[in-house]
Order: sequence, then C-alpha cells, then structure tokens
Amino acid sequence: MKEQLQSIFESAKVEIAEAKSIHDLQQMKSKYVGKKSVLNGLLKQIGTLSKEERPKFGQIVNIAKADLSKLIEARENEIKELDYLAKIESEKIDLTMPSRKRTSGSLHPITKVIQEIEDIFISMGFEVAMGPDIEDEFHNFDALNTPKDHPARDLSDTFYIDNDVLLRTQSSTVQVRVMENHKPPIKIISLGNCYRNENDASHSPMFHQVEALVVDEGINFADLHNMLNTFVKKMFGEKIESRIRPHFFPFTEPSAEIDIVCVKCYGKGCNLCKGSGWLEMGGAGLVDPNVFDKLGIDSEKYTGYAFGLGIDRITMLKYKIPDMRLLFENDIRFLKQF
Ligand code: DAH
Repeated sequence: MKEQLQSIFESAKVEIAEAKSIHDLQQMKSKYVGKKSVLNGLLKQIGTLSKEERPKFGQIVNIAKADLSKLIEARENEIKELDYLAKIESEKIDLTMPSRKRTSGSLHPITKVIQEIEDIFISMGFEVAMGPDIEDEFHNFDALNTPKDHPARDLSDTFYIDNDVLLRTQSSTVQVRVMENHKPPIKIISLGNCYRNENDASHSPMFHQVEALVVDEGINFADLHNMLNTFVKKMFGEKIESRIRPHFFPFTEPSAEIDIVCVKCYGKGCNLCKGSGWLEMGGAGLVDPNVFDKLGIDSEKYTGYAFGLGIDRITMLKYKIPDMRLLFENDIRFLKQF
C-alpha cells in the first residue's frame, strides 16, 4: 500500500505541475485531497494492515494530502500570475507609435454666409432677433394679413404638425413676434430655417431666409431700396446693384420683388440669369397698416419697411454652387472645399 501511495503521490505532483488552468486544479483538488479522493480510497483499505502500521499509514496519507494541497495552491498562484501577465501583455500600448492624423473641420457654407450677413447688418445698427421654427397660424399667416383661403395655407404647401401648429414657411413670423413685444423704433434682422413642401434643384423643403424689419416715423421706399443696395454691394461687391419690381405680398403695401445684377455676367445676359441680366433674391415692401393695427402699433404715426431674402440662394451665388440639394446632402467631399 505504501508503494501505491508513493506512485499516486508522484503522478499527482507531475499532474499538478502541468495543470494549465484553475479549472484543472479544482478537479485535482477533488481527485487528490477531497472527501472522495484516491488517497481517502487507500484509507478504506487500512484494515488489511497490522494494528501497529495502521496509525502510521494514516499519518503518511494525511501528510501526503497536505503536501499535495500546498502544491495545488502554489500552482494556482502561479497560473493566476501568468494570466495576469498575459492580460497586461495583451493590453500593452505602444507609446512611441505616431498619432492618428486629425483633419480640421470647416464651417458649412450656409453658416459662413449667415455670419457674414449678420456682420453686415450689425455694422449698420441692426439687432438680431430670433423666432421659433414651430409656429402657429397666427404668427405665420393671420397676423401677416394672409386670409384663410390663401393658397400658401394649403396642406400641400405647408407642413402642419397639428391643426393650428406648423413649420414656419417664412421668416416674416419674426416681424410679428418683434412687433408684439416692442414699440418703434425697431431695426432688426432675423436669420433662420423655413419649411415648404417643395424639392428640386433650386428649392429644398428646409431652407434659410434673412428677414429685415425697420419701423419708425417717416420710413419710406427710398430707405428700403437704399438699404438693399448697401447690403448687396457689401455682400457681392461694388458692381452689384439691386432693383425692385412691383409684386404682391399680403403683409406689405406696396410690395416688390428684389432682383440683383447677375453676379456672373454683370448684366450682359448669360445662362445663370437666363439672358435677363438679373437674378431674383426675395421680396420686400412697406409694412401694411393692417399688420400694424393687428399688433397695436399706431399706423398713422409709424411706417416701416421689410424684406426677406433667400440665404441659400445667396450662398449658391457667392460660392457658384449649381444645385441647392448639394448644400444639404452633407457629402464631406463637397463640404471640404469651404
Ligand atoms: N416672406 C416672403 C416669402 O417668403 C418674403 C417677404 C416679402 C418678406 C415681403 C418680407 C416682405 O419681409 O416684406 O416669400
């Protein structure tokens, strides 16, 4: 039996030394030192020994079990250490490696133009006003003298969110909000998003407008034209003039459409201006007294002008962009150029 014990002990030592994982060792624990271990199995045969030998053999078995436990524990610590070193190795970072190249971003061309327009008007004493994109019918239509049966109010042109709630179709809503809360003199511009149900090379369902409103005593059409000319020259250069043509808007009287001299041919006529020498920029007019009356501003005392220009159009002309959709596709190859 002693030889048997000896050979089990020797092979256990080899097995423990070769164990690869904590799991292997757990199995060895129950095989060699647990209740149902082979060593305990030997003790069951103790009856075959003489009386004097029995306690001695019991002692040797216990010593062997204690030794094997110690070996298992030592191997366990070894494996933990090896696992830890392997983990560190796998997470090693090469600090001498060159860093990834970062490319710097650039402002969207519309953002650039918005900032430029703001700078021009602020330098002429305007304040910048803001209004919400989600509006009600009062601010988008009723207060702007646009009757219930006006085609612009149709569901096929305007994005309604609810009965009375819509995405503003024009930045003229901000005129209403400013006049509701401020008494003249008023001199503001407002720049922002507008929404209409249209989509082609020169129309996008979301687009940008700049709105101007000036209200004071004695404001007239000449002031409007003068301001437009000053702006257009600052934006496109001294050679570019503006002209106003009679038109109709419900909230201005008289109303006009604004054209500028073609920025490509300077008035000679080309493919951009379709031979006319002029490009359309937006609408303008003198604030209709009805609008003043609705908003509690004395229409006998005050007059005012307003205009609204397409920022996307200005951007396209400034940067020679042929299709409006390019501005909103967010193609990095396009945006990188600005
Ligand atoms: N809101 C008009 C449009 O989107 C443009 C416009 C016309 C704005 C006349 C004005 C204005 O301020 O006075 O078509």
